[in-house]
Amino acid sequence: MKKEVITPWEISGEINYSKLKEQFGTQLIPENLRKKIGDIHPLIRRGIYFSHRNFDSWLKDAESGKKVSILTGRGPSEKMHLGHLMPFLAAKSLQEKYNCNVYIPISEDEKFFVKKSLSFDKAKEFADENILDLIALGFKPSKTFIIKDFSYPKVYEYSSKIAKLITYSEAKAVFGLKPESNVGWSFYPAVQAFHILMPQFIEGPHKTLVPVGIDQDPFIRLTRDISEHSTINLNKPCAIHSKFLPSLKGSTKMSSSDESEANLIYLSDSPSEVKRKINKYAFSGGRDTLEEHRKKGGNPDVDIPFQYLKMLFEPDDKKLEEIYNKYKSGELLSGELKKITIGKINSFLKEHQMKRKSSKKQLKKFMLS
Ligand code: TRP
Repeated sequence: MKKEVITPWEISGEINYSKLKEQFGTQLIPENLRKKIGDIHPLIRRGIYFSHRNFDSWLKDAESGKKVSILTGRGPSEKMHLGHLMPFLAAKSLQEKYNCNVYIPISEDEKFFVKKSLSFDKAKEFADENILDLIALGFKPSKTFIIKDFSYPKVYEYSSKIAKLITYSEAKAVFGLKPESNVGWSFYPAVQAFHILMPQFIEGPHKTLVPVGIDQDPFIRLTRDISEHSTINLNKPCAIHSKFLPSLKGSTKMSSSDESEANLIYLSDSPSEVKRKINKYAFSGGRDTLEEHRKKGGNPDVDIPFQYLKMLFEPDDKKLEEIYNKYKSGELLSGELKKITIGKINSFLKEHQMKRKSSKKQLKKFMLS
């Protein structure tokens, strides 16, 4: 097994999610809570969001009609792929259910500081491109607020308030800063803590929920540590943490840092690209020969096309179960399963790409200035 490495900027090796939860000190989302909110989104119902901090208290306020908000951000290091969708899909369905404000900060600064090869202009360009994808997901325009770190005027003011409460050695311990890391990087944790508190800085104290990949928990922890300080006086943020969408070849996370483009499905991919990538690269849990597959059945639990259906593209539990059983019994072949997944991804992308064309017109409604 490859050694597990996990920080907000590096994820590699086999990830043991339950160990991670221990290490970070978060709670598993208990079965009863998951059932209670199962209608919100399959990502939550099916345990892809598996861990949390004070989600129960956020829900209590949301359900009793108190003001609550949702926040999740995007680091614009590249064009968006399927793996990037998860926090935003969760945020959107929570917004639909509880009719609350959603804040989306875009951290061009973070990616500019952390990614050596990313130029200043390219980071800004990806930010603008990514925002068009986010708008296309269908958030409520009157209740959704997007900011860019390089242009929202209050970023430095609020981040400074926070930076004063974080020592260098804390930042170093939590984020694995190295002697050769640039100082922009060492300041950035204060910026993301500002993001997480932004709904409260703007609207006053209330509970904010941050749906996010588990690798981002160090930021949540840090923000919870400083949010009640007398110079800030806000509520601790709540969080739900997800697992990662695996890459096509089946490694832990769909990520462009250590994968070739062939292993990722971009939101801009054409139907034929999707078909080619899935057929050529997607790791299959099917058997080597047709006879063997018919006799012994496939393994949906490691099959990437099945995992994509489960995590993103088949919302109907009954249909998913049917596919699971048929694959396991050998009735459904690997090629047939791939075909189902290709069809689902392509119909999602077709609609997405169409909606994205009108995102520019809506930009003004979403950007907070
Ligand atoms: N750091 C996140 C990433 O790399 C992006 C991000 C910026 C974010 N601000 C945030 C995530 C606030 C959650 C909350 O993907």
